[in-house]
Amino acid sequence: MTQAPHSDAVPAWLRVRELMTTGLLAQAVTVLCDLGIPEVLSAPRSVADIAKEVDADPEALVPFLRAACAAGVVEESQPKVFALTDLGAVLREDHPESVRLLCSLTGREEFHRTWAHSIHSARTGEPSFAVPHGVPFFDYMKSNPDFASLFDRAMTSSAAVDNLLSGYSFAEARHVVDVGGGRGKMLSAVLAGNPHLRGILVELPHVAEAAGAVLADAGVAERATVVPGSFFEPLPSGADHYLLSRVVGNWNDEDAVRILLRVREAIPDDGRLVIVGNVPSPADRTNYPRQLDLYMFALLSARLRDYNEYEVLLGEAGFKAAGMANFPDSESVITAVPV
Ligand SMILES: C[S@@+](CC[C@H](N)C(=O)[O-])C[C@H]1O[C@@H](n2cnc3c(N)ncnc32)[C@H](O)[C@@H]1O
Repeated sequence: MTQAPHSDAVPAWLRVRELMTTGLLAQAVTVLCDLGIPEVLSAPRSVADIAKEVDADPEALVPFLRAACAAGVVEESQPKVFALTDLGAVLREDHPESVRLLCSLTGREEFHRTWAHSIHSARTGEPSFAVPHGVPFFDYMKSNPDFASLFDRAMTSSAAVDNLLSGYSFAEARHVVDVGGGRGKMLSAVLAGNPHLRGILVELPHVAEAAGAVLADAGVAERATVVPGSFFEPLPSGADHYLLSRVVGNWNDEDAVRILLRVREAIPDDGRLVIVGNVPSPADRTNYPRQLDLYMFALLSARLRDYNEYEVLLGEAGFKAAGMANFPDSESVITAVPV
């Protein structure tokens, strides 16, 4: 029998098959997070110990933990003895840069169903989320409190607070409206860092109801008002600053302009609009912006926009872009003024 010539190079067919399994590695990480394994893995532990502590089957855990090793977040120091790696430390909920809730969120069945229908997005330009779920993404939240709560907590844990505070100074501001401000993490940080400032949070009612506790925990509740409502309806006026954090990027051009026009109606001519979002640039260090672009498209029919595209949108709604602060991996803070 002739043997195939040996080569160290990984053949193309194997590289592509490996590529096609990366989603499964990610799902293994989601399973570990949902079982609470990052919390029990600060020191190396046997799989039997881990399984006992998180109430799982020890033999069944092995392929999940080994997949997490392949993903680089866990290491197997001895056979069937595992610990978190430095990379995996961000899976712990108490890590200051924790991505734990995002890992739980992206492994949810709603996301998998959406990906299964993503060819619909490619063919039509419509969000594939609505195909298996029957309603658009944010409408689905209204009647699925479990998914909505995970989404809102994941957004709270990943709010780009430091970028906003270093990308824009609120020293001259008096009153800020955080439009689509989630559970109020961003507004809490802005008010906590600027004791002269008052704030209003505008959010859908099912999200707004959790904001009081976040604002109170930050010690800023007496300077903040929560207004349940939609940013497609008239917004509170009388403030000098309006904040749209990770909002414009969730909507197609037509809806994004509708939101910006609502801000334009409410903002005084000498006011400031601050937009926090993802603006991809050639300096991005990872593929993350490319993945985010796909997420936005499949879930919401939105696209990541570059600065010029923001300039056009803002222009259509009566604003002029006045500058952008950039942070790694497409995170950005754009400032705009009414014209
Ligand atoms: C990606 S999250 C960003 C939350 C927060 N601004 C942040 O940066 O963490 C988008 C937010 O828009 C809110 N939203 C969606 N549709 C809305 C509407 N019609 N009116 C007000 N808020 C809305 C969602 O509930 C969600 O909290």
